[in-house]
Amino acid sequence: MAAAADVTIILALKAFAYWPAFPIVAEYLRGATASSLNEAQLIKRHFGKPPHVYAPVYQPHTFPQVAQLAGHLTFNSLTELERYRSVWEPAGVNVGLRVNPEYSPVETALYNPANPHGRLGETLPNLPTKPPAGLRGLHVHTLCESSAGATATLIERTKAQFGHYLEKVEWLNLGGGHLMTREGYDMDGLIATLRALRARYPHLEVILEPGSAIAWQTGILSASVLDVVENYGTRTLMLDVSFTCHMPDTLEMPYRPTVRGAKTEATEGFDFAYRLGGMSCLAGDALDEYYFPQPVRPGDRIIFEDMAHYTTVKTTMFNGVPHPDICLIDANDEIIARRTFTYEDYEGRMG
Ligand SMILES: Cc1ncc(COP(=O)(O)O)c(C=O)c1O
Repeated sequence: MAAAADVTIILALKAFAYWPAFPIVAEYLRGATASSLNEAQLIKRHFGKPPHVYAPVYQPHTFPQVAQLAGHLTFNSLTELERYRSVWEPAGVNVGLRVNPEYSPVETALYNPANPHGRLGETLPNLPTKPPAGLRGLHVHTLCESSAGATATLIERTKAQFGHYLEKVEWLNLGGGHLMTREGYDMDGLIATLRALRARYPHLEVILEPGSAIAWQTGILSASVLDVVENYGTRTLMLDVSFTCHMPDTLEMPYRPTVRGAKTEATEGFDFAYRLGGMSCLAGDALDEYYFPQPVRPGDRIIFEDMAHYTTVKTTMFNGVPHPDICLIDANDEIIARRTFTYEDYEGRMG
């Protein structure tokens, strides 16, 4: 797809940082993008490519190290770009600026970066008519699990607002949120849109940095039922995982993950309703009813589908709840890497 559209596609580590799988990802993608020094170092060490870096704000004490590692470095604001000019300019760092095209198809405010009053990127009225000296790229990110049509609209809005900059810079990063591995995604449409963009601005390198799409449908979270609690007729399966600690997007987005063999709505033949409860003491560490075809008992397994992206990277050890093991499983179902977590991992976070 990258070759067909003549663009560069890189992995966004914020969605998937499971580095034992990087060699597999690197067979298909040219690089990866970081949002912090830690992610940049992980890319350097395990992906073997200079990271693209964008952070909403850089820390003065680590910026020189970030700049030294970065192949491309994007600033969130013009003030940051100027604040660090004395570092990046003499070092010849390839710098860009995030801009806000004020368009996003995302309806949940927590996940919508295109709010005109928001903190992510400069809006058009803030930009000088000519790009600041040394600026080599523009970055936009406003999609989330979006279609090829949304990418086309994003490009149109970006051209309409920032076309005068696109004529002058060398690269345009279209951010993430392009869910190109989802079944039914209009890949031909995306390729046509990107080719048209390349034809309009032949000098521009076009970069896409999806995260979810790279790890889409590549991993499950397997839980055990430890207890069943019933109050006033509502039954809750008490699991050995936690929504707040291990799957926070199910509460924040919020969304209903697919549970293997169960339905999210009352359906004929699925007559046994249970809420799903996590193992932390947060009252809301639970999901509303799922419907099963048979009674569920302690010892049964509950499989959450599609948990590879934004799950391992967002876990916390709130309540001292342990992380689940992380396993890399090959095509023959053999476990080829396993990380287990111990008391020392918990203690090490605190002192
Ligand atoms: C700047 C930026 N790039 C890339 C991504 C990856 O997006 P996704 O995982 O939805 O493809 C994100 C996600 O928040 C982001 O903020």
